[in-house]
Amino acid sequence: MPTDRKGRPGRRGWGGPTALLAAGLTFSAACRDQPPPVPTPATQSATAKSFYADHFSRRATAAEMTVLGRELFFAPQLSLSGRMSCATCHDPAFAYGPPNDRATQLGGPDLGSAGLRAVPSLRYLQTVPAFEEHHFDEAIEDGTDQGPSGGHTWDGRANTTHDQARLPLTSPFEMANPSVEAVVARLEKGPLAARFRAVFGDDVFAEPARAVTALLKCLEIFQQSPQDFYPYSSRYDAYLRGQAGLTPAEQHGLALFDDPKKGNCASCHPSQLRKGAFPQFTDFGFNAIGVPRNRALPANQDPGHFDMGLCGPVRIDLTDHPAYCGFFRVPGLRNTAVRRAFFHNGVFHTLEQVMDFYVARDTNAGKFYPRRQGQVDAFDDLPAEHRKNVNHDPPFGRQAGAPAALTKGEIRDVIAFLNTLTDADVKRR
Ligand code: HEC
Ligand code: HEC
Repeated sequence: MPTDRKGRPGRRGWGGPTALLAAGLTFSAACRDQPPPVPTPATQSATAKSFYADHFSRRATAAEMTVLGRELFFAPQLSLSGRMSCATCHDPAFAYGPPNDRATQLGGPDLGSAGLRAVPSLRYLQTVPAFEEHHFDEAIEDGTDQGPSGGHTWDGRANTTHDQARLPLTSPFEMANPSVEAVVARLEKGPLAARFRAVFGDDVFAEPARAVTALLKCLEIFQQSPQDFYPYSSRYDAYLRGQAGLTPAEQHGLALFDDPKKGNCASCHPSQLRKGAFPQFTDFGFNAIGVPRNRALPANQDPGHFDMGLCGPVRIDLTDHPAYCGFFRVPGLRNTAVRRAFFHNGVFHTLEQVMDFYVARDTNAGKFYPRRQGQVDAFDDLPAEHRKNVNHDPPFGRQAGAPAALTKGEIRDVIAFLNTLTDADVKRR
């Protein structure tokens, strides 16, 4: 159980950019054009190891699996409806995020079921570490427990992208298959069967378990393709490489983003090079920031239903950890400017709304939360007993009625900065 969650300047605290500068670790020519870190099986869980040990009669190359994985990612045959592929929700034109402003995307057998959560971008996930409940960051000398970190999805419940790929395939809200085996049975009869045999050997469908491994492996390897999933082609990357400048507004926005007394965004969404690695704008930690309840979600019509992230009910192994209720994994902010559904429940649809929430959640709570018996019902998407888990570090934590943490002009500049994080190939809104 993490001991304290309050009173610390952000749960994370590798010290942010200031610590890097203090350590003399300014950006040098040596870091330029350094390839981004590549995930290795060694960073993954023990179950992952047995997964990688699986044998096929033909040894598939990574290049072949990438090509087949790309076809599978766009293949509607993966869904029970035959009308939905991974790309339906994770659209490459929007950095593998949602193509529209729906809080959650429609899926299920007849494509009529609204899911529970907003679709995350699949870009820049290549360094997501496996989930751990107690994270100790080697960059922090006092050895403090940084609490839970890592894992895939908003609640970190899948440890690898192949574990993760199982989830949408069988989720009743998404591809709605009765089992992963049912998917490979369909693939065996479909147009991609010959491709599977060519890549993994003629007997790939002989055992369903092996065919499932082949399918998940291809999807996983495709999602590690640098040009598709981590191109580092934004203007901010060019700026970090010393190849482009930022406008004065963008530069000011970055300074506010980093400033511990103003935006303090970088305390959870690190923005600077760290040991030569380009920033992902998340430290993969978890936090409760008290996002308002999205009353438009069908699941929320039940007043007793609360999506509390780490402590359940979607994730089921930490339900006896009340201190984790309300905690969601900090999302990266690359390409966030092209999203039109923000936070785990998609409650906001513009960056202006998100910024307004960050700077005025505590100073003007009535703007974001409903009233109950005349009182503003702050943090209304958590049962009352768990609201104490919500973070109060800057930009939060100001007195009701005090000025917001950032002015309108400052918000504009932070948004201008966030717009520099959009990759070159992604559609601008
Ligand atoms: C109906 C929409 C939908 C479809 C189709 C879909 N996903 Fe997702 N995906 C989601 C949602 C929603 C989440 C977040 C789930 C959560 O947090 O519980 C997600 C999460 C993920 C994640 C984790 C991202 C992270 O930030 O850790 C990966 C990886 C992923 N999906 C890959 C896939 C693959 C591969 C396919 C096709 C086999 C697929 N998805 C199909 C909606 C979809
Ligand atoms: C205490 C840690 C923390 C701080 C400080 C913080 N964030 Fe976040 N941020 C989070 C978490 C956690 C989420 C996901 C919350 C959820 O969905 O419930 C998030 C989500 C977001 C999202 C939505 C992304 C998406 O894909 O839906 C944006 C945009 C964002 N933050 C920007 C900012 C900006 C800008 C600042 C500074 C003004 C900031 N954050 C400060 C932790 C933090």
